[in-house]
Formats: sequence, structure tokens, C-alpha cells
Amino acid sequence: MTTAQSQSSAIPPSENPSAAARAPLALDSGNQASGTAIPVPVAQLIDIRKTYFKPDGSVMVEALRGVNLSIPRGEYVAIMGASGSGKSTLMYLLGCLDRPTSGAYLLDGRNVARMHDEELSAFRGRTIGFIFQSFNLIPQLTIEENAEVPLFYQGLEKSERRERAIEALRMVELDHRLGHRPSELSGGQQQRAAIARALVTRPLILMADEPTGNLDSATGLAILRTFERLHEAGMTIVMVTHDPAIGRRAGRVIFMKDGDVESDLRADRPDPVSDPDQAPGH
Ligand SMILES: Nc1ncnc2c1ncn2[C@@H]1O[C@H](COP(=O)(O)OP(=O)(O)OP(=O)(O)O)[C@@H](O)[C@H]1O
Ligand SMILES: [Mg+2]
Repeated sequence: MTTAQSQSSAIPPSENPSAAARAPLALDSGNQASGTAIPVPVAQLIDIRKTYFKPDGSVMVEALRGVNLSIPRGEYVAIMGASGSGKSTLMYLLGCLDRPTSGAYLLDGRNVARMHDEELSAFRGRTIGFIFQSFNLIPQLTIEENAEVPLFYQGLEKSERRERAIEALRMVELDHRLGHRPSELSGGQQQRAAIARALVTRPLILMADEPTGNLDSATGLAILRTFERLHEAGMTIVMVTHDPAIGRRAGRVIFMKDGDVESDLRADRPDPVSDPDQAPGH
């Protein structure tokens, strides 16, 4: 249980998440498509460095070498690049799972780099929704119980936890499978349950590290379609991928090389998912 909610008063008004940004996503309204609104950065990295040291204090690896990056609210970003280029390190920092060695990371207007551990994990809990390649669902729990897990840490009443879990499962079109455990679902459905678990806290950013890496391509397409619907409803999404086809669907592709941004391209018109309704996974 945390008192994290009280921290929002420290957020400057221009950066403060509006009620709309925190409200349940109205997926069927489609009224917040990016492009028309003035972009407000939800995340900003300023000269971020991450150095791994050996036990004797000498430098082992400079994983990030002065990264500058600004992610506006509502953007759909793909992070690409060769193995070892720093993608996961960058994701860990963006997702508040780690802190930079130097530089500033402003998330929702607050400098994450200066937070101590407890503050950081409380802040992470209400700003970031993480989706992993291997789903990481708890096998003994039903999908709605899985989706409720992050809310335990926020001290919500049981009835509200359940309500929010079902709302999130509805967003990923899985509310017809309530009561099922992960093993009773397809891979794509399991990943959608994991997306629901990431959405349940109504995060500012959804982060995904290779979310379709363990799925066949047709199932992966259905997952991408889910991300696109969330993006169309206004969600900010940052996704690491090795798949250029996924990169083409995102509105922006950041290529990492040797610990820095090599290129940062915005697509005028991202590729749509060609035939989502034909993809299995429902
Ligand atoms: N805990 C650590 N200790 C030391 N070096 C590390 C650590 N984590 C990552 N590195 C190094 O930092 C660099 C960037 O690693 P990172 O995991 O961010 O790469 P990546 O782009 O995600 O690669 P991949 O595509 O293989 O997942 C690599 O040289 C890696 O060996
Ligand atoms: Mg990686």
C-alpha cells in the first residue's frame, strides 16, 4: 500500500495528466487520434548516460552515451537497433526500472533520476504499464485476478479492483473469457491478458519489450491491432522490436546504435494492419 497518489500535487500544471488522460480509454470513440493535438512530452530524456561498472569501479560498458529524446503524449514509438545497441537499457530507464548514471529523465514533469527507490517504485506503479515478451501471467490465477495484481499495491478495494480488471479486459476484447486461467487461453489471448494487466492502473505510458516475439505472425498481428486501437484512443506506447514490419506500423521509429540514437523518424502515415479481423486469437 502506498501514499503515492498524494505526489501529484508536485506536478506542474502543464505536465499534469489531465483527467481525460487518466480516465478509462474510450476505445470506440476514436476521437483522440494523434496529429491534431499540440504534442506535450510525457517523457523527456536529457543527456542520459548509463554506465555499467566492474566491482573494482572501472568502466565495463557505456550502454547509453548521452541520449536526448522527447516522447509526446499519445505517440506510438518503436525502438529498433542491433543487439547490444542499448534498447533494453533505454526501456528499463524509460520504464523506471532503473536509474541513469547521469542526465535527467522527466516523466510526467518529474525527474526520475533523482528519486530514491521507494519513491521510484510507487511512481512507476502508477505511470508505467509493462508488457513482456513471455507474458509473465500467474498460472494459478484467472485472467481477471491476474489483471488485478498491480492494483493490490495501490490499496484499492476488492470491488474496484475487479471492476477495473474487467474494464481492462474489455479493452483488449477478452471479457468473454472471465474465469479462465492462462493455460486455457491461446498465446495471443494470454498476451492480451498481459496487456490488460498493464492497462489496469491507467498508466501514462504502455511499454512493451518484443511483445509479439513469442507469437506466430498471425497472432502477432492481432496483438498489434490491439496496440493500435489503444494508440487511437490516446495511449502513449513505446515498444522494442526487431521486426521492421512492426516498426512501419508505429508513428515513429527510433534506431539505436552503440548506446545512442542513430536515427529518429516519424512516419507520415504508418502502415495499417492489413486484415486484423482475419487474424486468430479471439
Ligand atoms: N547489467 C549489465 N552489466 C553490464 N553490462 C550490461 C548490463 N546490461 C547490459 N549491458 C551491456 O550494455 C549494452 C546494451 O545492452 P542492452 O541489453 O541494452 O542491448 P539491447 O539493444 O537490448 O540488445 P538485444 O537486442 O540483444 O536485447 C550491451 O553491451 C550489454 O552487454
Ligand atoms: Mg534487449
